[in-house]
Amino acid sequence: MPATLPPADRVVMVSGANRGIGLAIARHLAAAGYRLSLGARDPAMLAEATAGLPEERVLRHAFDALRPPDAEAWVAATVARFGRLDALVNNAGVLRQVTFDEGDEEMLDEMWAVNVKAPFRLIRAALPHLRRAGAGRIVTIGSTDSKRYRDGTVSVGYAMTKHAVLALSHAAKFAGWEHGVRATAILPGATRTDLLRGIPGVVPGPNRIDPETIAAAVAFVLSLPNEASVAELPINARLESTL
Ligand SMILES: NC(=O)c1ccc[n+]([C@@H]2O[C@H](COP(=O)([O-])OP(=O)(O)OC[C@H]3O[C@@H](n4cnc5c(N)ncnc54)[C@H](OP(=O)(O)O)[C@@H]3O)[C@@H](O)[C@H]2O)c1
Repeated sequence: MPATLPPADRVVMVSGANRGIGLAIARHLAAAGYRLSLGARDPAMLAEATAGLPEERVLRHAFDALRPPDAEAWVAATVARFGRLDALVNNAGVLRQVTFDEGDEEMLDEMWAVNVKAPFRLIRAALPHLRRAGAGRIVTIGSTDSKRYRDGTVSVGYAMTKHAVLALSHAAKFAGWEHGVRATAILPGATRTDLLRGIPGVVPGPNRIDPETIAAAVAFVLSLPNEASVAELPINARLESTL
């Protein structure tokens, strides 16, 4: 296997590609030369946000994390269009403020559905194709909240789901390892998107991570060969021990 894997011909699915970190990933990977299958629940918004990407290398497909059949349908459409699947980027996610004093069950359920169950379903549907690829990749956007519970200002529900999706990423690595599948959880700290709007945070806006920086990290882990597995990549905007 070469020292790094070239983008050419590799097919990558990205969920939540219509804005924020997902859109930055889509743009970055398109510029690098990947073939892309972009999922979003609002096709019109996705088309507008990604106008200008090279159409011959891009598929857009409906993906609503709250609609279970969408995962399999999107994977099937991707393989039908490109004939293969090399990587899945689980990016779509929601943050609702659910603590012991704030929020409700509905908000908690939405976070479990979007942040954990949908990535589980996508991995399940994608795995046979990723195994066939020989160097399949699963990149999951977790959070620094996947690693520790920081303090009482943090959404307990969000931290629960982000811890869970990290476990899912590690399990996926085991499921695909023998067939060359590698799984990485990228764990960003505060990043400059709409996600944190109205949420108490400790990192002021200008000091937050640029979504393009996360996109570059995704491209980096996609470039690593089978012999160089990175299980977790924390990327923090603030000073914390070990993160
Ligand atoms: N921003 C941060 O500080 C930060 C830090 C660590 C980790 N993250 C993680 O990074 C990922 C991307 O977040 P972001 O910062 O880019 O947030 P964002 O700007 O709010 O974008 C969230 C994305 O998820 C999609 N999404 C939400 N609910 C969905 C559903 N039911 N079905 C399909 N897609 C859905 C959104 O689509 P719609 O436009 O349709 O809502 C949007 O594309 C998330 O997993 C988040 O937890 C973010």
